[in-house]
Amino acid sequence: MMRWVEVDGERYPATQGEQLRDERVVDGARVWHPRRSKAAAALVKDVEMPLEDARVLYLGGGAGTTPSYVADLARAVYAVEFAPSPAKRMVEVAETRDRLFPIFADARDPSEYAPVVEEVDILYQDVATRGQAEVAVKNAPFLRDGGRAYVVVKARSEDVTAEPAEKYEEVADRLGDVFDVDRTVDLSPFYDDHAVVVARR
Ligand SMILES: C[S@@+](CC[C@H](N)C(=O)[O-])C[C@H]1O[C@@H](n2cnc3c(N)ncnc32)[C@H](O)[C@@H]1O
Repeated sequence: MMRWVEVDGERYPATQGEQLRDERVVDGARVWHPRRSKAAAALVKDVEMPLEDARVLYLGGGAGTTPSYVADLARAVYAVEFAPSPAKRMVEVAETRDRLFPIFADARDPSEYAPVVEEVDILYQDVATRGQAEVAVKNAPFLRDGGRAYVVVKARSEDVTAEPAEKYEEVADRLGDVFDVDRTVDLSPFYDDHAVVVARR
């Protein structure tokens, strides 16, 4: 279960699970710090994310930090990562977490992992590369009807010179072709030039 803990006068989400690296633990719960995870930043910014008992397809798993928190809550997390070094670290993180399934593959080619991923309730994406909307669109078929998508947009990955708000809008427009876009939430002050687009299938 996710709960909220007070750290240095701020309220942060926290989960029950095995401590990872040097993260902070308060009253036996892992503090999910909004400066270390865009999902935590979204939660602190009042984005509703029904992760409990959900099946999650996580694109851009990195070294497994955010996937590890999601796996504390979800029923199954399929975390796709294509860079060897973070993928190796995520595999280590997954060794002691039986609901986290690392997949070493390119999220631009979902046929690589379609045979091992079931239909999911939540699509979470944090790939931080150019073409972020297209990656989510390609993976939309994994999401069940009514399932929710959270697409983190790093504006500078699309175009370093453009106004971030323009890029958020472009991504949200493209997502609108296959999802019902609910809203776009800017992740400042935790992450500059990042937003999360919240949508539904
Ligand atoms: C910002 S990092 C992810 C951090 C991670 N989500 C977390 O919060 O712990 C973005 C990751 O996406 C991965 N990535 C980018 N494009 C990808 C693709 N097409 N397929 C799979 N992984 C990708 C990068 O290698 C990088 O590790």
